[in-house]
Amino acid sequence: RDYYASRGLGDVYKRQLYFCSFEKGCVSFGGMKLYMNRLTEALLDWYADNKRDLPWRGTTDPYRIWISEIILQQTRVVQGYEYFLRFIRRFPDVRTLASASEDEVLKYWQGLGYYSRARNLHAAAKSMNGKFPESYQEVRALKGVGDYTAAAICSIAYNMPYAVVDGNVYRVLSRYCGIDVPIDSTEGKKLFAALADEMLDKSRPAAYNQAIMDFGAIQCTPQSPNCMFCPLADSCSALSKGQVMQLPVKQHRTKTSNRYFNYIYVRMGACTFIHKRTADDIWKNLFELPLVEADRNLSEEEFLSSASFRSLIAEGEVPEVRLVFRNVKHVLSHRVIYANFYEVVLPENSRSFSEYQCIRMEDLEQYPVSRLVHAFLEKYL
Ligand code: ADE
Repeated sequence: RDYYASRGLGDVYKRQLYFCSFEKGCVSFGGMKLYMNRLTEALLDWYADNKRDLPWRGTTDPYRIWISEIILQQTRVVQGYEYFLRFIRRFPDVRTLASASEDEVLKYWQGLGYYSRARNLHAAAKSMNGKFPESYQEVRALKGVGDYTAAAICSIAYNMPYAVVDGNVYRVLSRYCGIDVPIDSTEGKKLFAALADEMLDKSRPAAYNQAIMDFGAIQCTPQSPNCMFCPLADSCSALSKGQVMQLPVKQHRTKTSNRYFNYIYVRMGACTFIHKRTADDIWKNLFELPLVEADRNLSEEEFLSSASFRSLIAEGEVPEVRLVFRNVKHVLSHRVIYANFYEVVLPENSRSFSEYQCIRMEDLEQYPVSRLVHAFLEKYL
């Protein structure tokens, strides 16, 4: 009982629903005994043979590990790889990153999504006074660094005994131990954090943490785990009970909403118009073309007669308008965007779009933009 209490697992203990105890490297869960040393050893053995050769693996520089971990949040390794190399080439250390402009940092992040990660990175670099912090508490206090990232940085760079808990860890542990407590419940979070900590090889935290994450990413994958050739097949609870595809359990599905964007690419001689998205919304601080958002997909006629579009055009002017792409679907994690792209041609002395920033078209590529706008510009220009 004290053991649970000391780990904040009182509720788990009291309910006795998911009876779970950790003792001498052995976990009993729902009456089943699992020998966890075995998991730890098997993961480390597996890692020695299968570890991915990644550009941030050959270093203990906390700055590089921090950058790689922030890139890898919400981004697959294959996609993050090139971004990491480019980012480090341009911003090789804390000082260089801190002295860059936010626009430039965002430009290097362009296409990766979740741009608050880049804004936080930049803000955190500025807060460091040129030196990456060396204690867990200071690392955890950095902007944009949560429990996962702090544990990853401190274990990988400093070999400190902090267990990481990411999607891979939830999957591997829930399947191996056959735990169906929802991973997004308070109880589940506590339980898996304690379990991950218990499993951590305290003498090799850097290797162990990366081993379990690589194992989840390559072997124990969400949709097609390679159970046939798995070193843990003979002791995996989910496999023995035929529950591999049912685990881990999530209680909430993420809701998605639809948004309807009408972008306007303006041609006024050699110039066009853009603006910076400053509101607390998707793509904050990225640039984009003038935008009319609607609550549904507008037809061309509806768009042209809408008050929002009319308000952009100066009194008495009759611009030439053409719908160039219709209903382009762009999927983000919690939203689906349906976008129409219009081209508007204005005479050089036009007074329309006066609220927008007028720039030379050839300078467009210097501004960080969303993947959606980038794809349009690539295709259309
Ligand atoms: N995913 C995120 N960070 C990782 C790391 N350091 N190793 C393997 N997979 C990861």
